[in-house]
Amino acid sequence: MSAADPSAAAPAPAPAAATGATAAPPADYSGARPPPPRRPRRRWRGLLLVLLLLAVLFAIAAVWGNRPHVPQREPQAVHRSPQQLAQGLYLARAADCMACHDGVGGIGGAREGQPFAGGKPLPTPFGTLYGTNITPDPDHGIGRWTAEEFHAAVTRGTAPGGRQLYPAMPYASYHLMSREDSDLIYGYLMNIRPVAQPNTKPALPFPFNLRVLMFGWKTLFLSSAPLPVGSQGQSPAWLRGQYLGNVMGHCAECHTPRGMFGQMQKDRWLQGGTLSLFTAPGITAEALAARGWTREGMAQFLQTGFSAHGSAFDEMHEVIANSTRYLTAEDMTALSTFLLGDNPPAPQPLPAAAPQDSGTGNSSGNGAVNGAGTLDAGRGHYMALCASCHGSEGLGRSLTMPPLKGNSTVRQADARNLVLAILVGLPKHPATQQGPTPLPGMPGFMQELTDGEVAALANYTRTALGGQPADVTAAQVADLRSAAGKAGHRPAP
Ligand code: HEC
Ligand code: HEC
Ligand code: HEC
Repeated sequence: MSAADPSAAAPAPAPAAATGATAAPPADYSGARPPPPRRPRRRWRGLLLVLLLLAVLFAIAAVWGNRPHVPQREPQAVHRSPQQLAQGLYLARAADCMACHDGVGGIGGAREGQPFAGGKPLPTPFGTLYGTNITPDPDHGIGRWTAEEFHAAVTRGTAPGGRQLYPAMPYASYHLMSREDSDLIYGYLMNIRPVAQPNTKPALPFPFNLRVLMFGWKTLFLSSAPLPVGSQGQSPAWLRGQYLGNVMGHCAECHTPRGMFGQMQKDRWLQGGTLSLFTAPGITAEALAARGWTREGMAQFLQTGFSAHGSAFDEMHEVIANSTRYLTAEDMTALSTFLLGDNPPAPQPLPAAAPQDSGTGNSSGNGAVNGAGTLDAGRGHYMALCASCHGSEGLGRSLTMPPLKGNSTVRQADARNLVLAILVGLPKHPATQQGPTPLPGMPGFMQELTDGEVAALANYTRTALGGQPADVTAAQVADLRSAAGKAGHRPAP
């Protein structure tokens, strides 16, 4: 068929016709006829008009979507039996609503702050959000909300008036919370003491301050499909644990890496994430078994914050203090079963320690990164700075100085938490009425040690006590030192 053949124009692609071009271009430009003249001006004007219209619509939606909205109705009177109130509190704890909604300073039962009155800053890579007031105050809290509206906010991130919530409120996890459980939590919250404390507006830069964008986020990332898992199982205990871990406890929100829109990466579920300074390590069944975890050790860790595998610190300590330690024995078994699976992979024994006399070289063969001399120096630092508390063989002392030999933090392939613990130390955890185990805390050595010394010390600890390669470099320590500085850790003057 020749290019000039008029019949060739008939099946020309639809877009050409849609732009109003009179002569559709021939399918094949190799012929003699030149392409028809373009009409840039008219096309641009049309496009501009469409864009303008979209911008206006978007602006209206943005202003409307950011408007705070208090339902116009009387405060709701919600009656619950004492047993239902207790169930509601149990579920609020299992879902750790306290973590973000307790008043500032209210960690571990709101001693200073007001329970559920909000105001706690929650930094995200997009800006800072604040936990909101979810007491039954009619104007600043949820006093006028119905159970239906509450369920929509908790599981779909849609507040009354269609206001879209940011996913820092973990509705991507709560999405599958049962209506029954949501109603019990609602009933509990509607019967606590109202606090007339106004909410703090999120501090988000443009365009993240446009709540209307969350429609798009939800379209992309919120689905009714069950959330992924990091273990295998189908027993009733595993299924209950799946609900407790994935939905209520929202473990994945911290333990799963995030994508560029802040979404949890579903194909890397529970494989470890870094939201703040410390990393939340991988807690798939395989990752846990590789560091020696057993179901019993896990239940003990989640109950008391202390186990033969190590102690809980940073945000994990708060999770245990506010949430998991309140789980019934049956639910705790379920959660540990979910983490390690119906048939847990065999816990891997600690690889034989690299020779402590590093003059003979280290068995992992990382001499290229760190020569034997630096491991010797690392051992010297360990003896001088760490052994008094953790023991010269890393076996720990009493119930409050965790053993470092075989410790799950030391056995992590990623040395981030080990290096950070050395740099900034770990805060002490005072005794509370019913646990978790009080811990005296650990000093940081940011001031005493250079980057190279910290790397040598970390490498000694990794090889001698964790069966890990001596692969920490001074440059990595420098990066973590500056991250710690940005997070507000400064060596004492
Ligand atoms: C990881 C932190 C976090 C946890 C855990 C959390 N929330 Fe939230 N929640 C937030 C943030 C942040 C907001 C405000 C989001 C916004 O401004 O878009 C919020 C908003 C809300 C709102 C809407 C309030 C309003 O006035 O618009 C309700 C209701 C709510 N949360 C209830 C709960 C309940 C119930 C739980 C426990 C089942 C819970 N949240 C757990 C962070 C959290
Ligand atoms: C004054 C006592 C003390 C000294 C000195 C000390 N630590 Fe600690 N360390 C502790 C305590 C207590 C904990 C538990 C803190 C917690 O979990 O909240 C701890 C926890 C740790 C952890 C986390 C362990 C886990 O169970 O996850 C690591 C890693 C660690 N220390 C390494 C070191 C290294 C390396 C040194 C030497 C530079 C050192 N510590 C010096 C008391 C000390
Ligand atoms: C707010 C963030 C956050 C949430 C939510 C969270 N974790 Fe963690 N988790 C961490 C951090 C940070 C660490 C590292 C500190 C440590 O080892 O104690 C950690 C450590 C752990 C460890 C110890 C791993 C090891 O090898 O040392 C386990 C087990 C664990 N988390 C289980 C859970 C479970 C189960 C849940 C849900 C019920 C959960 N986490 C929810 C942040 C979180």
